Amino acid sequence: MPRGDAPLGVFDSGLGGLTVVRALRQALPRERIVYLGDTARVPYGTRSAETVLRYARGCARVLIERGVKALVVACNTVSAVALDMLRAELDLPVLGVVEPGARAAVGALGRLADAGGARIGVLGTQGTIASGAYPRAIGRLTTRVEVVGAAAPLLVPLVEEGWLEGEVPRLAVERYLAPLVAAGARVIVLGCTHYPLLAPLISEVAARLAGVEVAVVDSAVATADDVVAWIDDERIPSAPVASAPATLDVLVTDRPGSFQAMAGRFLGGTAPDVSQIDLAAQA
Ligand code: DGL
Repeated sequence: MPRGDAPLGVFDSGLGGLTVVRALRQALPRERIVYLGDTARVPYGTRSAETVLRYARGCARVLIERGVKALVVACNTVSAVALDMLRAELDLPVLGVVEPGARAAVGALGRLADAGGARIGVLGTQGTIASGAYPRAIGRLTTRVEVVGAAAPLLVPLVEEGWLEGEVPRLAVERYLAPLVAAGARVIVLGCTHYPLLAPLISEVAARLAGVEVAVVDSAVATADDVVAWIDDERIPSAPVASAPATLDVLVTDRPGSFQAMAGRFLGGTAPDVSQIDLAAQA
């Protein structure tokens, strides 16, 4: 049985996974978290599945060495292409973001009025869209909804630059959303950990293109719900009150200063201290 006071390990290719950390801290304020952002090798979304798996194994190893009780894969690309392998190889629970995102999308479609025949649209990295992971996960929940996807690679650097509004992100979002909306998508899944920062713009552009309400769903909150359910199901003792305030240790593989400068925006609060590690040296 995992120790209640062991931390949760969360990793992503970079900053975006902090949106999942934010949701986890809201849902589980007493849990300690160790976060690893592989900033030396970001982006993962343009790489082959084999490379993403190799990178993910390295991130998992670092967190396991730090005694985490479960791994939360906060990267959509890793969740889409490498989750099954990580689950098979590792001797601890591994939770991803695609299954909760799919569940949130199906729920959102069910709540829309007049959604008969509507589709679910997924925006993600090239790796996530090419993997077909979202259509598969949605297909396991319902066979009655069609899924359309679009790779939106330019949105990641825009978010990294802090370009969340204005003409350039608006044009990029419009270009990526137009085919999804034209195909009848009434729910847009933010299938990349960076996109939640663009959610207001994506919502606004989608509604304007569609001329009706379009639901925009983000897997961060649904992922935190899955972690809460795992803690309840496994009857893992709650983190002791004495350990509050819960710590957030943030590790990156490159440029801790610029990571820290952006981290507050993703976390929705004060930026934590950030330490640099060398993944190769930990092999
Ligand atoms: N974290 C990645 C994801 O959610 C986006 C950034 C990248 O391509 O590495 O898919």
